[in-house]
Amino acid sequence: MSFNIKFTNDNGVKSDIEIVFIDKDLLEKLPESIINIFLLQNFSAKDGEFIFLQNSNTLYYGAILDNVDSIREAAAKSIRIVKKYNIQSLKIKGFDNKEFTYALLLGILLGNYEFVDYKSDSKKASLESIFVVSNIDYKDELQKAFVVANSINMARNLINTPPQDCTPVVFADIAKRISKDFKLDCKIGDMKFLQNEKMDLILSVARASVHEPRFIELKYSPKNAKKKVIVVGKGLTYDSGGLSLKPADYMTTMKADKGGGCAVLGIMQAIAGLKPDIEVIGIIGATENMIGGNAYKPDDIIRSREGLTIEVKNTDAEGRLVLADCLSYAQDLKPDYIIDLATLTGACVVGLGEYTSGIMGYNTDLNREFEEIALKSGELVAILPFNRHLEKLIDSKNADISNVSSTRYGGALTAGIFLGRFIREDYKDKWIHLDIAGPAYVEKEWDVNSFGASGIGIRSVVDFILKVSNGS
Ligand code: BES
Ligand code: ZN
Ligand code: ZN
Repeated sequence: MSFNIKFTNDNGVKSDIEIVFIDKDLLEKLPESIINIFLLQNFSAKDGEFIFLQNSNTLYYGAILDNVDSIREAAAKSIRIVKKYNIQSLKIKGFDNKEFTYALLLGILLGNYEFVDYKSDSKKASLESIFVVSNIDYKDELQKAFVVANSINMARNLINTPPQDCTPVVFADIAKRISKDFKLDCKIGDMKFLQNEKMDLILSVARASVHEPRFIELKYSPKNAKKKVIVVGKGLTYDSGGLSLKPADYMTTMKADKGGGCAVLGIMQAIAGLKPDIEVIGIIGATENMIGGNAYKPDDIIRSREGLTIEVKNTDAEGRLVLADCLSYAQDLKPDYIIDLATLTGACVVGLGEYTSGIMGYNTDLNREFEEIALKSGELVAILPFNRHLEKLIDSKNADISNVSSTRYGGALTAGIFLGRFIREDYKDKWIHLDIAGPAYVEKEWDVNSFGASGIGIRSVVDFILKVSNGS
C-alpha cells in the first residue's frame, strides 16, 4: 500500500479531491447552489449514486450512513471512482465512533486494491495522502485497518497470480519470506516429509503434476499463550479436475483454488501484526491437480494419514483429500480450535450464491458464534447444518468411504461430512469448516472487492482469533 492515511481536525486541509458521503438528511443541509445542480443532474443521493462536481473537485456519493457495512462499501466504491482521476491527495470526513471509522478505513484500503502485476501499461498509483477529517485520532483502528488490509491484499495478489508463476514450491517460498518478514516460525514439508508423514492423499492428488507438492506450516507463538488455534487451508495452485477433467468453462478461475491456503497465509500475517496472546498455527496443503499417465484415477483406493481408506470416485473432488491429511496432522498438535478454509464445492456456490461462505461443523454453538463474528466483520456467511442422514451418502462398497456422495444433492454438506470423518471424537466440537468457493473469486466487482480474488475468510477468522484471545 503506497499511500498514507492521516487524521486531521483541519476541515480546510488542501487536497486534490474531496469525497463527501451524502444521504437524504445531509442533502437538505447543503447550500442551495449545490442542491440546484443536483436537481438539474437528477442526483438524489440514493445509495450508490454519485456525482462529481468539477469546479469544487468534490465527489458526492450517496450512502446509508447508519451502519458499518454501508460505510465500508461506500468507502471502497468511492475510492475506486476517484482513483480514475490522476490525484495525489484526497480528503474525506471521518466519523466520531470507532466502528464506523474502522469500516471507513478498511473500505478505503480494500477498495483501492487492483491486480496490475501483469499489465504492461500499468501506471504506478499516484495517490499519496488521504486526510480523514476528524477531531479524534483513531490510532488503534488505523493500525488494525492497515494490518488487516495489507494481509488481505497480499492474499489477493497471491491468489490472482497465474498458476505457472505460483506453483506449490513458489507458494512455499512466499510463505517462508512472509514468515521471515513478520517473525513467524515456518516449516516447509517436501516430498520426503509427505512420504514420512504418510500423506498419501496429498501425494496422490499431486502425482500427475510436474510441480512437486509442499506442506506449509507457519507458527505464531507468544509467551504464555493460553489457547491454540489452527487454521488449515486448501492450496490447490491449479485444479484442472484431474482425469475427471473439468469442462473448459469451469476450469478458468481455478488458479483461485488456492484461496483457502492464501487466506491462511493472510491470517498468519495479520496475526503477526496484531499480536494477540494466543498461539496460532497455519497449515497449507499446496499442490496442483493435473492429468497425465501418472495421474491418480477414479477407482483408486488410497489410505489416508489418519488410517481411513478412500475410494476415489471423482478426481475433481481433490480438495477434501488434501485437507483430510492436513486435518489429521493438525489434530496431532492438540489445538483448542481447528478452522479449515477451502474453495471446496461448486454446490456451495449454487446453494448460497457467490457472496456467501458456508459454515459447517458438529458444534452448533461454535457455528453460531463464528457466524456472528463473521457477519460483524463484514463477511457474508450462512450455517449449513449437518444431519445424520448425510453420513451414509459417502459409503463405499470397496473402501471405508468414497470421496463423492451417492446423490447429487447437498454437495457442500457431503463434502463437509467427508472432512468430518477425519476429525477425531475429541476434536468434533472444536472444528469449523468454511466453504469459501462462492466469494473467493470475484468476476464482477461487489462491495469491497475489485475484479479477481477477494481474500475472503481473513477478516472473520482474524476476528474470531482475537475474540478467543480476549477470553471468549
Ligand atoms: N475447486 C472445486 C470447487 C469449486 C468450484 C471452487 C467452483 C470454486 C468454484 C472442487 O475441487 C471441485 O471441483 N469440486 C467438485 C466436487 C464434485 C466432483 C463432487 C464440484 O464442486 O463440482
Ligand atoms: Zn476439483
Ligand atoms: Zn478444487
